[in-house]
Amino acid sequence: MCGIVGYVGEREALPIILDSLKRIEYRGYDSCGVFVLEDGEPKLHKDAGTIDHLKKNLSESEYKGKVAIGHTRWATHGAPSKKNAHPHLDGKGEIAVVHNGIIENYQLIKEELLSLGCKFVSETDTEVIPHLINLSLKKKALLKKVSSEKFDWQLKEAVREALACLNGSYAIIVAAKGFDGLIAARKESPLIIGVGDRENFIASDVPAVLEQTNRVIYLEEGDLAVVKKESIYIENGGAEVRREGRLIPWTIEDAEKGGYEHFMLKEIHEEPRAIMDTLRGHIAEDGINLGIDFKIEGGAKGRSILMVACGTSYYATLCGKQIIENLAKVPVQVELASEFNYSDFVLDGTNIIAMAITQSGETADTLMALKKAKRYGSKTVALTNVVGSSATRIADETIYMGAGPEIGVAATKSFVAQLVIFYLLGLSLAKMPESEFVGYLEELKRMPQIAQIVLDEANGDIQKHARYFSKYEHAFFIGRGVNLPIALEGALKLKEISYIHAEGYAAGELKHGPFALLTEDTPVVVILTHDNVYEKTLGNVKEIKARGAPVIAIAEEGDEEVEKYVDAVIRVPGTSAIFSPIPNTVALHLLAYWTAKERGCEIDKPRNLAKSVTVE
Ligand code: G6P
Repeated sequence: MCGIVGYVGEREALPIILDSLKRIEYRGYDSCGVFVLEDGEPKLHKDAGTIDHLKKNLSESEYKGKVAIGHTRWATHGAPSKKNAHPHLDGKGEIAVVHNGIIENYQLIKEELLSLGCKFVSETDTEVIPHLINLSLKKKALLKKVSSEKFDWQLKEAVREALACLNGSYAIIVAAKGFDGLIAARKESPLIIGVGDRENFIASDVPAVLEQTNRVIYLEEGDLAVVKKESIYIENGGAEVRREGRLIPWTIEDAEKGGYEHFMLKEIHEEPRAIMDTLRGHIAEDGINLGIDFKIEGGAKGRSILMVACGTSYYATLCGKQIIENLAKVPVQVELASEFNYSDFVLDGTNIIAMAITQSGETADTLMALKKAKRYGSKTVALTNVVGSSATRIADETIYMGAGPEIGVAATKSFVAQLVIFYLLGLSLAKMPESEFVGYLEELKRMPQIAQIVLDEANGDIQKHARYFSKYEHAFFIGRGVNLPIALEGALKLKEISYIHAEGYAAGELKHGPFALLTEDTPVVVILTHDNVYEKTLGNVKEIKARGAPVIAIAEEGDEEVEKYVDAVIRVPGTSAIFSPIPNTVALHLLAYWTAKERGCEIDKPRNLAKSVTVE
């Protein structure tokens, strides 16, 4: 989704704004813009394209000033173009707004404003906001006719009045001619304030401010803040409120490429560490500690778990269902958040623990699902990677994964970190003999090394296979049981970054339709690590080969049998079947990465996508 940033302080604002925007470009990258106040005088620059493109055509020396806002866009209303890029201005060009979210009733407001003589230059929903603010100020007839203190207050009130007209979601930052601060407000879209020394920062996401400060205030639903270089005033519902700052444990290095060509490659290489840090965060001396009360009796009459998620998190959750049901024998229902939100709720909500699985903690569909489960009386738990994100504030309890900031649009290390939480959850709910429990836990603790072995030993082969794999336009990924969701994830990763059409399928289902698509130009990637259905999957491979399709297998070290039936093998270390999703995922993430690289794709910024989707 869009990224917004603001700066007010003693330094030149533009370089800080451009750097911050660059750091959250994963939120959208089809167009961008900045608005700088030089001695109170407004200057605007925006264009279609990326931040680098904007910078190329921007003479920084012409945009001096200590107050500025910026925006990087993922288009919703209006095509990605210069005129639709933010910031958007009022008719006089004195009030500028950057916005993330969707104003649902903008059309009605726009018609009203047009009838009052306002002129619009864009097709966006956002443009109504600066016009509304201006109108509100005009009504008071106070613009520039009052002392600066009074003007600040009037401006804040005008923003409040403007926001009261809006339906939908927004995080906005407002800058205005003659105003030495910024006004920020949020409703259903994330917004943070980075607290500095004689300077403050506003942003959609923490990585935007990490270079400058680790102290962050998370604005709450309905908050409106007046941010100046030495003061932060926050109100909610018209009354002043206190919001504590939090120290964010991430470092700027965590949010940089660290010598890798792409964030995605760096983040795949961080998978062992993400697993390790997630384990460290939840394994105490006396066993597993997820920090929440998960009392579940199990069995059909007892409580069960409902999990909602989107995208990659959804596939991790499908795998989590199998892990938890296998280890703990507790029923888990998994729903796509966007479907769950508009389906009938036929369960007894009070008997369910509803978990939202979301790396960012900001995905609109997932947040809605969490709220819905709450309305039906469920106890709610957020599983997220981002401290203080919206999901953590909606849910009754939160479990954090320890993946560290994930910047690449295609989720990777957060996927394995989510799996680790599911193993821990399954084990903590399991009623199994102590020795069995210890055995599982010990093997789980070896997963960082297992992931590292794939990175060290399979990477070269995967690069080689990616070279020929990249020539195809269609592919299937198949698996069974706990590895079916891993096949789905492998296909998703490939399609989103390489633009190869890839479908994930249950290995046993291919013969019920997709066989019609198999040709020598349709490679099939099969997950063939050992489990109780290994022979069955091998049988499927033979059927596929008989139809002429090339097959790449992901198989364990030492499994020579597989060589007889497939065209290429990616080797991963052997594990118990239940833990095989970890090495298999690392291998598939690498395969997607190297294939996309071979095809010359924009890996960290796949077309039309955004990392955090804060609209329905
Ligand atoms: C977007 C991203 C995906 C991500 C999904 C859910 O579509 O591009 O990579 O899996 O959102 O995100 P979440 O933050 O809720 O896990």
